[in-house]
Amino acid sequence: MQSSIFLIGFMGSGKSFLGKELAKSLSIDFIDLDHSFVEQNGLSINEFFEQFGETAFREQESILLKNTDIKKKQVVSTGGGTPCFFDNMEWMNFNGTTIFLNASADLLVQRLDKEKMHRPLLKSLSYSQLGEFIEKKIEERLAFYNQAKYIINFEQNNEHTVLEKLIQIAQK
Ligand code: S3P
Repeated sequence: MQSSIFLIGFMGSGKSFLGKELAKSLSIDFIDLDHSFVEQNGLSINEFFEQFGETAFREQESILLKNTDIKKKQVVSTGGGTPCFFDNMEWMNFNGTTIFLNASADLLVQRLDKEKMHRPLLKSLSYSQLGEFIEKKIEERLAFYNQAKYIINFEQNNEHTVLEKLIQIAQK
């Protein structure tokens, strides 16, 4: 596979960790869209949301995505909302290979409860609100995520197995 690989999926599905590992295994570059966003703006995502709001975030996120070098074989880990705004999903499918990391809602709740503070959409939610929010948001977003060329379903913390599947797909 010669073009970019776009990892998509909900917050906490392991896009950044697995993307980095995948790129390392393939000896190719890795881009984390959230990190690029923070670097470019000099603000954390929380700070950006507080100062400029979600609409501005989505606009800039889309520009950042479309500025990635599509001629290059690289792994791009996107933000959880990236595929769900503008024509981003269509753009990624046209310009690269999309892989949806489909972690179960139970696994996401467990993971995100521990790391919700730097995520503006989650930081003020209690444990029970978090569960409800995740289930509702996944339902809304599945229509976008399911447009991915490949889907990897997993219910537990089995990063090793997921990484092997990613490597197989990337080598096609
Ligand atoms: C978001 C996911 C985050 C980040 C922002 C919004 C979302 O990325 O882009 O907080 O709407 O799902 P991660 O999926 O890397 O946490």
